[in-house]
Amino acid sequence: MSEKFSKIYDLSIKDPEKFWQEAANDIFWFKKPTKILNKSNPPFYKWYEDGVTNTCYNALDFHIDQGKGSKTALIYDSPITGNKSKFTYEELRSKVSKFAGALKDQGVNKGDRVIIYMPMIPEAVVAMLACARIGAIHSVVFGGFASNELASRIDDSKAKLLVTASCGFEPGRTVKYKPLVDEAIKQAQHKISKTILFQRKGQEVKLSAPMEISWDEAHANAKDTDCVEMNSNEFAYILYTSGTTGTPKGIVRDIGGHIVALKWTMKNIYNIDEDDIWWSASDIGWIVGHSYIVYAPLFKGCTTVLFEGKPVGTPDAGAFWKIISDYKVKSLFTAPTAFRAIKKEDPEGKFFSKYDLSKFQSLFLAGERADPDTIKWAENLLKVPVIDHWWQTETSWAISSNCTGIEMMKTKYGSACKAVPGYDVKIIKSNQTLAKPNEMGDIVVKLPLPPGTFPTLWNADQRYKENYMSNYEGYYQTYDAGHIDEDGYIWIMSRTDDIINVAGHRLSTGAIEEVLSEHQSVAECAVLGIADKLKGQLPIGLIVLKAGVEKDNETISKECVQMVRNKIGPVAAFKVAIVIKRLPKTRSGKILRGTIRKIADSVEYKMPPTIDDPAILDEIKEDLIKNNILKSA
Ligand code: COA
Ligand code: AMP
Repeated sequence: MSEKFSKIYDLSIKDPEKFWQEAANDIFWFKKPTKILNKSNPPFYKWYEDGVTNTCYNALDFHIDQGKGSKTALIYDSPITGNKSKFTYEELRSKVSKFAGALKDQGVNKGDRVIIYMPMIPEAVVAMLACARIGAIHSVVFGGFASNELASRIDDSKAKLLVTASCGFEPGRTVKYKPLVDEAIKQAQHKISKTILFQRKGQEVKLSAPMEISWDEAHANAKDTDCVEMNSNEFAYILYTSGTTGTPKGIVRDIGGHIVALKWTMKNIYNIDEDDIWWSASDIGWIVGHSYIVYAPLFKGCTTVLFEGKPVGTPDAGAFWKIISDYKVKSLFTAPTAFRAIKKEDPEGKFFSKYDLSKFQSLFLAGERADPDTIKWAENLLKVPVIDHWWQTETSWAISSNCTGIEMMKTKYGSACKAVPGYDVKIIKSNQTLAKPNEMGDIVVKLPLPPGTFPTLWNADQRYKENYMSNYEGYYQTYDAGHIDEDGYIWIMSRTDDIINVAGHRLSTGAIEEVLSEHQSVAECAVLGIADKLKGQLPIGLIVLKAGVEKDNETISKECVQMVRNKIGPVAAFKVAIVIKRLPKTRSGKILRGTIRKIADSVEYKMPPTIDDPAILDEIKEDLIKNNILKSA
């Protein structure tokens, strides 16, 4: 079984340099690397250190050089606005090369950081690729984050320029970006020198020159601009993600490894060839969007779909089937929550039967645990393989998957399949020894990580080392826990830090707690992710008030909910803050979050032997029942 896969996998682990040297032959280099892996300074590894290339060249120019300029690179479809358009590789390069010139006109140079805070429109992709063209480092910020989060990213990245749009559209709501940007700029210590704003039709906003100029004004004198030569280990982008504290971590991506690895995955993991249409229904603000809306499909030279809509409500639960059918999509990649949303609204698949999905061959799910019910429902409906695969912002591509382009393996419901070539995945038990098959523990990956993974954190080498590489020497700690079974299948069971996963969006409960603690009536609080049928997890806050607070509990709860929305953003989906009398703690003062979560999820729990007062758990139960989180027995 899976002999072909095993052979390739084994080679990648036994001789990673040979394996990734061969893969590197598939991309364009201004100067081909002769040094494949520098291991002299662990845990800081360098792939292709003497190679010279350019991300944008590999995404666009390389294909045009090979006579494929008239092929469709990008399909934009926005059921929210009714807009649709297609761009050939040539057309996309023309837009990118002009905007690259516009960035240069505004003083953006190689190595400068550019924040991109935009909705799912082609101009966002153009901005990303234009940065890559001139060697600027982009940092895309998801539109569902509030000003405060945007400000922290401006400060940490010390961005020179910000690219935004007048608005984004959410079902039933227009997200006005300008006030959010204004507030972020006001809050940030670091001052960006210019904002370029794309005016969406009918939603134009007033700008104050010279600090703010429109997308069109920025193009006024812009010249076509060529790709600059970049060293393989220079950075392509920073993508901030939730960490174990409220301070987001700037995951960086180096250029050469990113191109090689992502291009390799398109065929080997996703079985996508150049003539295929590929769709990743995510957002460019997340890693899935970076890697699989923009970069990997363009490196591969296939066609990618940019979808400004939702699985339901834009306008109905047939939105995904319509896109697949209209554009003859071969494979779709999205989060399980999208399919749970469709299943909830159209359990019998009535919308599905209206469309022709004869070209559709596979569905890939990631971002959160894919529950077997949803996978089976999707399989029954679509009659194609549904593949759960596991990865992280840190890695930018799958750590475990069914590598369908190498050899299709059997599905085990609930498992994210086997380690992908390049990743030597192990389980380490709490006694620091390697686990046997089926034994639970921390999931780690033996160093060095393959190309395309994060070589460090932005301006934070020490944090990189301490956070990820120190607890288990010689291994990368994923902060996921689970086991590997006797067939080598990986089972991801939970996070080991404070990260929760809400509708496939990664959030730190610690960051939400930091916001709640700022409320003047809150003495202490705990935020936990409780199980939710649609979003996988939802955050709830338990707050204990300071003595003598006179405000009523309902007002305080509402204020807390609003504070999280204002400070983190609507993406936190934080709607419940419950005032309780006391929090259960160990005798040493540690809040028993795990036990509260089990109570809230109606999961059996053992009374923690170190609890200071067991009666508190009954109080919490009553509070959860009163607030409809828990049903009374
Ligand atoms: N800009 C501004 N606000 C945004 C936003 C964006 N780009 N994306 C989401 N939001 C807002 C939503 O409007 C919502 O606001 P509300 O509280 O005013 O209703 C809030 O953030 C929470 O959004 P979400 O968690 O996405 O919930 P939802 O109910 O709007 O949609 C799903 C639920 C399942 C339909 C949606 O999450 C989805 O399509 N997910 C699957 C794909 C995906 O994006 N995966 C992520 C990475 S792979
Ligand atoms: P992000 O960095 O936002 O992509 O989130 C990464 C985290 O999402 C992982 O560490 C996991 O906790 C979770 N995750 C991603 N894919 C899966 C999967 N297929 N199964 C279970 N959890 C997943």
